[in-house]
Amino acid sequence: MDFGTLVPGKAGLSGVAADALLLVVVGDAAGSGVDDPLGKALKAALADGDFTPKAGQVLYLHRVAGVKAGRVALAWAPDATPKALRRAVAGGVAVLKGGGTRHLAVAVAGGELGAAQAEAVVSAVTDATYLYRATKPSVGEDPKLARTSVVCARGDEKSVVSGLARGQAIAAGVRLARECANRPGNVCTPGYLAGEARKLGKEHGLKVEVLDRKDCTKLGMGAFMAVAQGSEEPPVFIVARYQGAGRDVPPLVLVGKGITFDSGGISIKPAAEMDEMKFDMGGAASVLGTLKAVAALGARVNLIGLIPACENLPGGRAVKPGDVVTSLSGQTIEILNTDAEGRLILCDALTYAERFKPAAVVDIATLTGACMIALGHHRSGLFTPDDALAAELLAAGDAAHDPAWRMPVDDEYDEALKSNFADMANVGPRAGGAITAAMFLKRFVARQRWAHLDIAGTAWRSGAAKGATGRPVGLLAHWVLSHAG
Ligand code: BES
Ligand code: MN
Ligand code: ZN
Repeated sequence: MDFGTLVPGKAGLSGVAADALLLVVVGDAAGSGVDDPLGKALKAALADGDFTPKAGQVLYLHRVAGVKAGRVALAWAPDATPKALRRAVAGGVAVLKGGGTRHLAVAVAGGELGAAQAEAVVSAVTDATYLYRATKPSVGEDPKLARTSVVCARGDEKSVVSGLARGQAIAAGVRLARECANRPGNVCTPGYLAGEARKLGKEHGLKVEVLDRKDCTKLGMGAFMAVAQGSEEPPVFIVARYQGAGRDVPPLVLVGKGITFDSGGISIKPAAEMDEMKFDMGGAASVLGTLKAVAALGARVNLIGLIPACENLPGGRAVKPGDVVTSLSGQTIEILNTDAEGRLILCDALTYAERFKPAAVVDIATLTGACMIALGHHRSGLFTPDDALAAELLAAGDAAHDPAWRMPVDDEYDEALKSNFADMANVGPRAGGAITAAMFLKRFVARQRWAHLDIAGTAWRSGAAKGATGRPVGLLAHWVLSHAG
């Protein structure tokens, strides 16, 4: 999808040359000041009660006399905040994307357009037009819609153009994350993720290193290797480095959970909805997507992505409940439940991150069903003892419309991880499950600024619209960009 700006001529919005015009009407719709004949159509729709100022309202009009764009959709937004625009544009695109529309123009009546608004338009349009076809050839051709122009006044062009660029880079990252996570476990294997990382490396000049089972065993990643040992599929540990700032600038490190299928292992999961556990590499996918967005923008920041990736399967060599393993940090872990595998692969990656002397480390993981129970599907769980880091990440999530919510990490929760046979157990009781998972990870980051994002509820949707969301690439990209010099 191409994005650009369009400055209307003398005929105003009625003269905009596009196949379809999406007019977002902000606030007090009647006073929106749209020139006739489009203005007349808007007033008539309002007077007839067919278009009311209500969030989610969309009205489609075909071949309005005197309006150059053959298709018009009116969409109401309460205000011109990026969040409100995003929702209105998503609704409008839904009715315009299907037909013969190749070129869509998006105009906002009654509100200012800045960079953040332009970014929101890109994100709404790309989200609404995403189609998964990798393993579904019957989906056929992509919809015709190939170009979107944001209508703006002469003086607003510069900021709109910069917002479009940022939006497109992030949208490409979101898309990559969705594409990876939507692919089934027999396609998106650890090796597939490594291939995607190498591709990113070639496209954007990242340094990509892929460690295999032998390398990881030799390093002493006993926790990661314990999870990987039940599967014939070769595990990988991906190290991808983007250098946009000076060598002496401490990097930000993102660690993504890359379980390409989570059966639970010997502590096997129930059959219902087990297919959804192909999304258990959503954290890894978001790390790749963020690297793509940040590198495409050439941001002046150093960013490292670490991805431990493997399958979690039962088998003759699989790790068993009660097994004790030694992590890369030297701490021993009693694996009471093989289905709590995410923390086992992450803890070794967090220890590995220390060697980069990072400015901050953020891990991203579809870690616990408990987090989904706590927060549902709107906000990701954010866990960190660091108030300043929490504030940065929450603000980034708000700005990207990819919000998170802070959860506690009090020492009291750590007691749940006591074990008689190792330095810690890998699970606590059911109560507070998302928190004890975070407390487990916290034991591996004593020397680093660290935060953990539990995206179990936000990385994908269940039900009829089942699929990956690409979250939290928006949050992460905004956070990393906020560190760029
Ligand atoms: N990948 C799952 C978490 C998950 C479950 C994400 C459901 C999304 C939906 C994780 O590996 C897991 O199985 N966690 C267990 C932990 C438990 C054994 C302590 C869980 O949440 O049930
Ligand atoms: Mn599991
Ligand atoms: Zn898992």
